[in-house]
Amino acid sequence: MSRKIVITSGKGGVGKSTLTANLGKTLAGMGLRVALIDVDFGLNNLDVILGVENKITYDIVDVIEGRCRIKQALVDGSAGENLFILSSGNNISPNVTGQNLKLIIDSIDYLFDYIIIDCPAGVDLGFHRAVSIADEAIVVATPGLPSLRDADKVLSILKSYKMQKIYLVINRARGDLIINKKMMTPRDIEALLNVGLIGVLPEEDVVFLSCGGRLPNNSASKKAYKILANNIHKNAKKIYDTTNKYTGFLGSIRRSIKRSI
Ligand SMILES: Nc1ncnc2c1ncn2[C@@H]1O[C@H](COP(=O)(O)OP(=O)(O)OP(=O)(O)O)[C@@H](O)[C@H]1O
Ligand SMILES: [Mg+2]
Repeated sequence: MSRKIVITSGKGGVGKSTLTANLGKTLAGMGLRVALIDVDFGLNNLDVILGVENKITYDIVDVIEGRCRIKQALVDGSAGENLFILSSGNNISPNVTGQNLKLIIDSIDYLFDYIIIDCPAGVDLGFHRAVSIADEAIVVATPGLPSLRDADKVLSILKSYKMQKIYLVINRARGDLIINKKMMTPRDIEALLNVGLIGVLPEEDVVFLSCGGRLPNNSASKKAYKILANNIHKNAKKIYDTTNKYTGFLGSIRRSIKRSI
C-alpha cells in the first residue's frame, strides 16, 4: 500500500510543483516506487518541470472518461524505472470529481510506495479535490508574510480532513538573510504555524534553471531534498541548515557579496 501525500500551500507560486517533482525524483533514487499526480487541471505543468511533456498522450481526464486505461496514462518520469507521472491535462471536465480521482488512486495503490499529489493554488474546489484523496499533507510556505498567512489558513482547513500527518516545508530560505535577521528562521515559522517542520529548501538559481533537468549533485538543493526525503521515509528529524555557508570568516564575505548584488 502506498503513502498518499498532497503538496499544498494556499498561495500560488511557492514551489509546490517543483517540490513534487524533486521529492519524487529523490524518493525514486532511493529505490522507492513513486507516482506523481498532477491535479492542477487546466494549469498542469508538472510534466514540463519533469521534462516529459512530449511523452504525454493520455491524462487523468482520459482515464476518467474511459478513453484509455490507467497504465497507458502513467508516463515514465525520466528518473529511472521507479518514477511515473499522471498528468492532469489541459482541460477540466465535470467528470473530474474527488470520488473519481479516489478510484484512480485506489487502482494504482498496490503499484507504488508513494503517491504524491500536486495541488493547485487556492482553497477552492481544486484544493478540496486534491486534499480529499490524500492521507498526509505537506504544506509548502516561503518565508514571507503573504505565504505564511495562506499556509495558516490551509492548515486550519486541513484539520477538518483528519489527515494522518501534516508537515511543513519552508522553501526558498535564504541563509544570508536569516543570519542578518531579515528573514524569519525556519524554527520561528514552525512555532508560528504550530506544525511540524519536515524540510527546509534553499533559494537557489539551479532550481529555477534546472527546470526539466536534474539538480546538480553538488547543489545545496540536492542535499536539502535528500534530507527531506529521508525525513519523510525514515521519520528522521534532520533539517538542512541554509545559514551554514554564511557563518565564519568566509561566510561573512559571502554575505556581503550577496548584499552588494
Ligand atoms: N528553492 C527555489 N529556488 C529558486 N527558485 C525556485 C525554488 N522553488 C521554486 N522555484 C521557482 O519558483 C517558480 C514557481 O515554482 P512552482 O511552479 O513549483 O510553484 P507552484 O507553487 O507549483 O505554483 P502554482 O501555485 O502556480 O502551481 C518556478 O519558476 C520555480 O523554478
Ligand atoms: Mg504548481
